[in-house]
Amino acid sequence: MKQVFITGASRGLGLEFAKQYLERGEKVFASCRNPEDATLLQKLKESYKDNLQIIKLDVSDEEARNSVFEKVSRNTESLDILINNAGIISGNEQQSSVLGDVYKEDFNKVFLVNSISPLLVTERFLPLLEKGSTPKIVNISSQNGSISQRNSGGKYSYASSKAALNMITKILSHDIKDKGITALSIHPGWIKTDMGGEEAPLEIEKPISQIISLIDSKDISESGKFLDREGNEMPW
Ligand SMILES: NC(=O)c1ccc[n+]([C@@H]2O[C@H](COP(=O)([O-])OP(=O)(O)OC[C@H]3O[C@@H](n4cnc5c(N)ncnc54)[C@H](OP(=O)(O)O)[C@@H]3O)[C@@H](O)[C@H]2O)c1
Repeated sequence: MKQVFITGASRGLGLEFAKQYLERGEKVFASCRNPEDATLLQKLKESYKDNLQIIKLDVSDEEARNSVFEKVSRNTESLDILINNAGIISGNEQQSSVLGDVYKEDFNKVFLVNSISPLLVTERFLPLLEKGSTPKIVNISSQNGSISQRNSGGKYSYASSKAALNMITKILSHDIKDKGITALSIHPGWIKTDMGGEEAPLEIEKPISQIISLIDSKDISESGKFLDREGNEMPW
């Protein structure tokens, strides 16, 4: 049984990762900002009393990261998969982050949640990952983070935060190589969620199941890569 820690599991991709890992018998630590409002996650708990642990975590909150680490450490000696999934598209819906309407508050918040927090969560959980079996860190990135595929102007903060996350994955892959931990950045595709919107072409189940198979298939020899859900390398 694998031990999987997921951030942002209240809805969207994070919730689906939790559901699919539970369906195949893994132990899931599903973290979210407000467990009391995460009704779909709470519903999952009814079917997976033993294998699902719901944990309160705002990834940007240092004290919360520390206490979650203590809590998880009391329940397991190791983690096999960390999915840094929590993300936001904007720091303030009133601020569009396009040229002429760029605010440092928006940038600060988007970078804090999408780029720096995945690294800080990872840093905190390294002692458990080091003891995992073929441990993997998966940073949920986006095609928006691909600099070479960018062919239009537009919103600055989200795309830049995912490009930064990709660099973080790359640097991390070197730092954790000796510990035998793999780090990947994965673009999930454009998926119908609150963030992806109704016009997204993909339903949620298949891409997440593809990503789970992809995570299974990768090892340290491919650490540091930026991949799509089918395993194709994404241009940086
Ligand atoms: N959907 C797509 O088409 C698409 C495409 C490319 C990449 N992605 C990436 O996939 C990831 C998941 O996206 P999604 O579509 O599932 O988005 P979503 O439906 O908006 O869900 C976002 C999740 O992140 C959580 N979250 C936000 N800020 C957080 C924080 N500070 N601490 C902890 N959790 C936080 C949310 O929790 P609350 O419920 O508390 O708000 C929610 O669970 C993101 O990193 C996103 O950038 C999505």
